[in-house]
Amino acid sequence: MSPATFSFPTTALFGAGALAELPKRLVSLDIQKPLVVTDPGLLSTGAFQLMDQTLGPKEQGKTWFLYFGVHANPIEQDVQDAAEAFRTNDCDGIIAIGGGSPLDVGKAARLLVRRPGFDLANFYEQPNWSGLAPFVAIPTTAGTGSEVGRSSVIALGDTRRKSVIFHPALLAKLVILDPELTRGLPPKLTAATGADALTHCIESFTCPVFHPMCDGIALEGIHLIVDALPRAYRDGNDLDARGKMLVAAAMGAVAFQKDLGVVHSMAHPLSAICGMHHGLANALCLVAGMKFCAARAPGLYRRVGVACGLNLATCSDAESDERAIEFIVQFRAGLVLNTKLRDHGVKPEHLDALVKQAFEDPCHKTNAVPVTKADFHQLYLEVL
Ligand SMILES: [Fe+2]
Repeated sequence: MSPATFSFPTTALFGAGALAELPKRLVSLDIQKPLVVTDPGLLSTGAFQLMDQTLGPKEQGKTWFLYFGVHANPIEQDVQDAAEAFRTNDCDGIIAIGGGSPLDVGKAARLLVRRPGFDLANFYEQPNWSGLAPFVAIPTTAGTGSEVGRSSVIALGDTRRKSVIFHPALLAKLVILDPELTRGLPPKLTAATGADALTHCIESFTCPVFHPMCDGIALEGIHLIVDALPRAYRDGNDLDARGKMLVAAAMGAVAFQKDLGVVHSMAHPLSAICGMHHGLANALCLVAGMKFCAARAPGLYRRVGVACGLNLATCSDAESDERAIEFIVQFRAGLVLNTKLRDHGVKPEHLDALVKQAFEDPCHKTNAVPVTKADFHQLYLEVL
């Protein structure tokens, strides 16, 4: 038997008001002139104002710089422009604040600071990425968990082909999980991003790759989400729920080091072809994906159900799956995530392209059970 490799990421600073620690932490990371990377939408939010106050308002002697051009689906130019801003201002570290996109660009910009002019399409031909500038990640949504990830998803070159750039050197030196920064997230986005985190936990737990540490983290993530997400959805100012969701989102992303499954393979083309929000796409496909897997691997969701708080001790495998899936059906409905794809602009004529891309997507290769093209077709029909 060949040995399994697993590792555990990043220092995280957690709690309401944790952002106040940032200046002190920058000193200990030897960052004097950070470049803040974000997207234009964040500039008018309370989260950005908090950070502005924490780093010291620009009027009182600016010691930090700002790049705010990140696109909703980041492109290579964003990474190049952020790296250019870093060099022009002679920065010595990057702070990325926002959702998954600014975090992904902030991570990757350090590559082009280290190697100016490098073509990211050749990323995997260059194995030595030591000596990257230090990186601090501050999420303002609780979903992707990009802050603890060691990869960036960037659309490369003129073709805008979405590519995953993966290297342990991309990991943040520090993650700040401050629920004050997610207070302003509207209920719809709270639900959709939270559903992404839930899907990460469920799919990584049921993925057959050997990683028992991730399995434990995924189950606790589910436990936190079923408690906290409905509360954060109902009351955005519930800082306890907001905090638990931030932790659970990070846990989901740690867990999916294992990998994901059929639901993410269905969700990715829905964003690429139909422009759907990633979390919403996952939410709408989750139940169909679970039913598909449970029919072929009875008992798969017993421990997911237990993590949701169900007592399944005397249930058969089939009954455990049924009850766990019914729990998710009700949970999703409580967050008004029980709509159909057609309610979000997906049309029957999109089906062929969706199926093709879903089958080409790597996530389902680690699904609990094999998935064929015909299966994807059937699954999309069920949720259309
Ligand atoms: Fe996801």
